[in-house]
Amino acid sequence: MPKIAPSILAADFANLEAAVQNIKDNGADWVHVDVMDGLFVPNISIGIPVVAALRKVTDLPLDVHLMITRPIRYVGKFCDAGADWLTIHLEADTEENIHVALRLIRSLGVHPAISIKPSTPVEALKPFLNEVDMILVMTVEPGFGGQKFMYDQMAKTKVLRGWLDAVNPECVIEVDGGVDKYTCPICKEHGVDVMVTGSAYFKAEDRAQFVKYVQQPILINEDY
Ligand code: DX5
Ligand code: ZN
Repeated sequence: MPKIAPSILAADFANLEAAVQNIKDNGADWVHVDVMDGLFVPNISIGIPVVAALRKVTDLPLDVHLMITRPIRYVGKFCDAGADWLTIHLEADTEENIHVALRLIRSLGVHPAISIKPSTPVEALKPFLNEVDMILVMTVEPGFGGQKFMYDQMAKTKVLRGWLDAVNPECVIEVDGGVDKYTCPICKEHGVDVMVTGSAYFKAEDRAQFVKYVQQPILINEDY
């Protein structure tokens, strides 16, 4: 069943406990937490203490997306803070350091994941296919919520699904950015397992219904 991971980047930061409770009450699968350092992306969001605080108030899996330079410096702290899934960006350090960081994440009992920006070719992921439990294909330029879905990224997820089926079939594919009721069926058609939704979730008139719609395995054409 496809999963939905609402991104708290679109929530009220003054009331994150209510936001994660709301995500749970509406039947969503994971909580997506966007960490930005103002260097890897031109924006700053939240960090380790917020992940630790969220860990205390939710039992949903915390899907932590690090948009930070040289993540090897901080992955241990994010694992300790309570991340269940920890995603680092392929572009954020040397290939060797990315390998080391992914292994460190796994050694700490957390699911290691890697992400690529829209301009990074999917071939760049080849050295990491066996080392990760999830690959996040960005469908917007990382840094901000509320941007338009980049349809051209779907070719990547389809190719990836083929590669992963051969070498690491348990590995899941996630997309992030511009996913809404119109774009999520295309994601599912292209082999995506987990859909991050920031604005679409928090702006949905009926969030529970939106969650069910995204989780539906079969495509339907009617408006949810
Ligand atoms: C963007 C973040 C996303 C963001 C998605 O850099 O990684 O997780 O919250 O927001 P929407 O769903 O509004 O595009
Ligand atoms: Zn994200």
